[in-house]
Amino acid sequence: MAPIPDPHPLYARLRAEAPVLRLPRPDKSFFLVTRFADARHVLKTDRVFSNRANARLVGMVMGPTLIQMDGREHDRHRKLVTPALAPRALRGSFPALVERLAQREIDRFASRREADLSGEFAFYFPLRVFVEILGLPAEEVEQFHRWAIDLTHIAKDPGRGFEGSRQLGAYLLPVVQRRRAQPEGPDLVSRLCHAKVEGQELSDEEVVSFLRLLVIAGAETTYHLLGTALHVLLHEPALLSRVRADRGLLEPLLWEALRWESPISTLPREALEDVELAGVEIPAGSDILVHVGSANRDSARFAAADHFDIERNDRDHLGFGMGRHYCAGSRLAILEARIGLGALLDRLTNLRLAPGRDSRIIGFSFRGPDQLPVVFDPVH
Ligand code: HEM
Repeated sequence: MAPIPDPHPLYARLRAEAPVLRLPRPDKSFFLVTRFADARHVLKTDRVFSNRANARLVGMVMGPTLIQMDGREHDRHRKLVTPALAPRALRGSFPALVERLAQREIDRFASRREADLSGEFAFYFPLRVFVEILGLPAEEVEQFHRWAIDLTHIAKDPGRGFEGSRQLGAYLLPVVQRRRAQPEGPDLVSRLCHAKVEGQELSDEEVVSFLRLLVIAGAETTYHLLGTALHVLLHEPALLSRVRADRGLLEPLLWEALRWESPISTLPREALEDVELAGVEIPAGSDILVHVGSANRDSARFAAADHFDIERNDRDHLGFGMGRHYCAGSRLAILEARIGLGALLDRLTNLRLAPGRDSRIIGFSFRGPDQLPVVFDPVH
């Protein structure tokens, strides 16, 4: 989330002049991939471009999880964890619960007639949903929440992030052990403890690591998606009126926001063998950064790619990744963001940027607005 101003003109230049750019690094070769076709190829060719690059990055904070695994090991872990996040688990009473959580967050600031929707809503709401999904006791939510927030500061403040990760792990381990000792219940922790594939369960440590991964993979990303969608609506009042009148536009809005400013902009991979990409030789062992944020603005793939177009109706972009590691929580993210935005539109009328204030989308690896200062008339 570095305060980088609009990087898209630079990405456009890279796509035109050096689509696979070798960056100088003393230890090993490092390549930045910025075109859609090349990015898609790397993500789909997981036999050659390995996710083990993540072991040295997210893996250091989370512990080993499916995001750093390849092949059969990844298959096994993915089969264990996806049922708990699948659409089936999101039906029934779940949407109504998410709606209640959104309303509760809005209650905190609605009567003030002004708020920062980034810090006061987009940030907290996905974390609250996540705490519910975990099925933690209500009295422990605040403490969990504080560590989860520390963990999300890993990029800005590594000391705070690592400490949050450690404390979260120390808190979650006994929770996991207790759940394992009980019969399977409906919450995510219990399902993860009891899920079996080919007769094998996840170890306690693996469940804890996965839960930590979900804080970043789920809450931090949905925060930026909500923020970017709101940023667009606040800068295009005509679009805001259209969406307010037709809530069926919320999903197209979110899918286009995911393309236009992808919350996770860069995905690391490692080349397992010598390979050529767009005419550039990549030696085995090289690190590769797939820039999905740039790929999703590639005019060779998307007409008028820099333009935010709610009519685009093109979900085949790379905002949720592509191939074997495609986001396991995509349905949950869209459901949560749609319900959250809908609740804001229901409760806050005459919503607009606060006079004299503005928001900017910033960041390199994670992208989203720095703030969303608004004024509004509340509806109780
Ligand atoms: C707007 C919100 C989200 C965005 C933009 C997003 C984006 C992504 C992307 C790009 C990947 C691919 C990583 C790679 O290829 O290396 C990914 C993977 C993943 N996401 Fe999401 N995600 C979001 C929300 C969520 C949520 C809500 C959850 C669950 C609570 C979740 C869980 C995961 C998991 C477990 C993986 C790893 C899948 C694997 O390695 O097989 N994500 N996500």
